[in-house]
Amino acid sequence: MAADLLVLGIESSCDDTAAAVIVARGSDTRVLSNVTLAQFDRHAAYGGVVPEIAARAHVERMDSVIAQAMAEAGAAFDEIGAVAATAGPGLIGGVIVGLTAAKALSIAHGKRLIPVNHLEAHALSVRLTEAVEFPYLLLLISGGHTQLIEVAGVGRYRRLGTTIDDAAGEAFDKSAKLLGLGQPGGPMIERAATGGQPYRYDFPKPLAGREGCDFSLSGMKTALRTTAEAIVNPTGQDIADLAASFQAALAAHLASRTTNAMTAIEAASGPSTLVVAGGVAANCAIKAKLKELTTARGWRLVHPPAKYCTDNGAMIAWAGIERLRAGIAPSVDEALAFAPRARWPLAEPPDGRAHGGGKKGPKA
Ligand code: KG4
Ligand code: ZN
Repeated sequence: MAADLLVLGIESSCDDTAAAVIVARGSDTRVLSNVTLAQFDRHAAYGGVVPEIAARAHVERMDSVIAQAMAEAGAAFDEIGAVAATAGPGLIGGVIVGLTAAKALSIAHGKRLIPVNHLEAHALSVRLTEAVEFPYLLLLISGGHTQLIEVAGVGRYRRLGTTIDDAAGEAFDKSAKLLGLGQPGGPMIERAATGGQPYRYDFPKPLAGREGCDFSLSGMKTALRTTAEAIVNPTGQDIADLAASFQAALAAHLASRTTNAMTAIEAASGPSTLVVAGGVAANCAIKAKLKELTTARGWRLVHPPAKYCTDNGAMIAWAGIERLRAGIAPSVDEALAFAPRARWPLAEPPDGRAHGGGKKGPKA
């Protein structure tokens, strides 16, 4: 019987200060604690995440979030096997805070340190709660990224497509702001859309009929603005219909580009499992659209539970365990020397194209 491996995971790449403790014993993994402290209140007045404010909030709160995660797990530092922390990509001030805290704990307690790529953590998060074998096709949709990636194994990624302008979460957040809804925009639009008609307004279908797996989301946001501005004194029903129509158009675009990736993969006899992960994967309308698509083509659709879709410490700890098990975690010296990264693409496309919008800047 393999011994218990306890890993502390630390996340601070955007506006969530998060820490979690998970325990792995053989194929059995349990999340003992998963603490997330969001910062919406700090950024609300500015209509978006302000990097300097985010970094300061992480500094103020990181110690207590880690202490709470350890206390809820009932764990002591001498029981921890390794500390995993997001080392990029993300807002650099925040990444520095989390990775430095992890380095300090690693040195003080003599523990292994695993610098984690935040995108890899999203990519592997589904395996924390479900037995999903490699390879699979990943649709990664978050505040900073919108990508289609073929995941062959831990550390083995091939990017098939990415956004040429906004990321999906960014489109949700900007559109929610435009409609006068709060932040984070995704859940607000999803809630507003509940009583809305998704076909009342016609939104553009970006890249329709075009080959490839890249995405384009900024036109949809502009169309929402133009449509909303043309309505004199919009009622609550108008807002609900706008939210529902926007959400449906965005879901249709994600599904259409994912279809192209599935076709390419089928032609190469690749995987027939689609994993959708990242904060936007918490959206039920998007999951329903992808379910339609995968069912029609005989694919399996899997997604992490919503709490592991949005940024969290458990997925960082899990990525650390995956790297340890795959034998590709760095040595203690390499990990301590690892510099935080604002930009850290998970995989470059074969032809070296490098697009990349997103609220965290051009990272991928
Ligand atoms: O993965 P995440 O927590 O952070 C990044 O790595 O970016 O994703 C945050 C994004 C935000 O843009 C938020 O609006 C979006 O995920 N989001 C959603 C939902 N929940 C969070 N978007 C659509 N529907 C949701 N239910
Ligand atoms: Zn994320």
